[in-house]
Amino acid sequence: MKALVYQGPGKKEVVEKPIPTIQEPTDVIVKMTKTTICGSDLHILKGDVPTVANGRTLGHEGVGVIAEVGSGVHQFRPGDKVLISCITSCGKCHYCKKSMYSHCENAGWLLGNTIDGTQAEYVRIPYADTSLYHIPDGVDEEALVMLSDILPTGFEVGVLKGQVKPGDTVAIVGAGPVGLATLLTAQFYSPSDIIVIDLDDYRLEVAKKFGATKMINSTDGKAVEKVMALTNGKGVDVAIEAVGIPATFNICQEIVTAGGHIANVGVHGQGVELNLQKLWIHNITLTTGLVDTNTTPMLLKIVESKKLEPKQLITHRFSLNEIMQAYEVFSNASKESALKVILTNP
Ligand SMILES: NC(=O)c1ccc[n+]([C@@H]2O[C@H](COP(=O)([O-])OP(=O)(O)OC[C@H]3O[C@@H](n4cnc5c(N)ncnc54)[C@H](O)[C@@H]3O)[C@@H](O)[C@H]2O)c1
Ligand SMILES: [Zn+2]
Ligand SMILES: [Zn+2]
Repeated sequence: MKALVYQGPGKKEVVEKPIPTIQEPTDVIVKMTKTTICGSDLHILKGDVPTVANGRTLGHEGVGVIAEVGSGVHQFRPGDKVLISCITSCGKCHYCKKSMYSHCENAGWLLGNTIDGTQAEYVRIPYADTSLYHIPDGVDEEALVMLSDILPTGFEVGVLKGQVKPGDTVAIVGAGPVGLATLLTAQFYSPSDIIVIDLDDYRLEVAKKFGATKMINSTDGKAVEKVMALTNGKGVDVAIEAVGIPATFNICQEIVTAGGHIANVGVHGQGVELNLQKLWIHNITLTTGLVDTNTTPMLLKIVESKKLEPKQLITHRFSLNEIMQAYEVFSNASKESALKVILTNP
């Protein structure tokens, strides 16, 4: 089968690999139907993720059909359509018992990291009973690919940890797929205002379509002044960081109002200066987190009911054979006006 593999910093290629086989009784083999590329795959390709070995098949998102099941798998049979979670969980350890699947002592972020991932014709999924979800009949499979990672990330780490409430003023810094997923799911709670901040006018236009009430292009470095002006000098109840650099974390520290929340979603590669001297006296709560995907069943129901339409995040479609081209587009997202790309395995 064909697979897209990491070959060291800056290098990726499509190679021929054997179809994976069952290694543990709790494994299944999934024939991929649709997959996508994540910003984290680009981080890996830069060489930022040392756990990824050369030759590793990338990808941690997608939907597929069960091809083979291990003897210890009880919830799935060959032919079942499944949604793959970016986080694999054993369901039994200390952290899984607390629904903190990303910290599973036996699994966690494995796919496209420490084991071969989903950017291939087939993938092996360990602990299948607790790491896959049945796809209900009639649900658009493309839309569900957004549930493998970005929707639960925006919802769990942005909206839930930020404690968005009805009537709140929310600011989301960063309108990439994760920021936009945060924007879509924040609206479950009816905030009165959602201000979205980015450097890219195309993404701000998309944010407006997705329900942002105010958009700020912060290229001029004046995001803080503009947010304060829009909020009568008070700032926002919830500031959500969805970029992962000190400058955008700083914006959040500056614009959060007394009693408010800063929810950091972005993956930071370096430290930031924490203005604790200002935050404590304003009763600010700061949260961080790695997505657990424990809200996936809930999000699946909302997508099924069409109250959430994550398909809007898809801008480009390719066949799995065209994956190098898809990477080219996704790596030049701003120039290509790209958000999520879908790769279909014919
Ligand atoms: N916490 C988690 O579990 C988790 C999971 C998945 C992704 N992430 C992280 O979430 C972040 C966002 O992911 P994404 O896929 O949407 O990334 P992305 O790179 O597509 O989007 C980032 C957006 O931020 C904007 N931006 C960059 N610099 C800016 C600045 N100075 N001011 C304002 N906007 C700026 C960019 O124009 C872009 O639209 C990344 O750091 C990613 O690694 C976290
Ligand atoms: Zn991802
Ligand atoms: Zn576990």
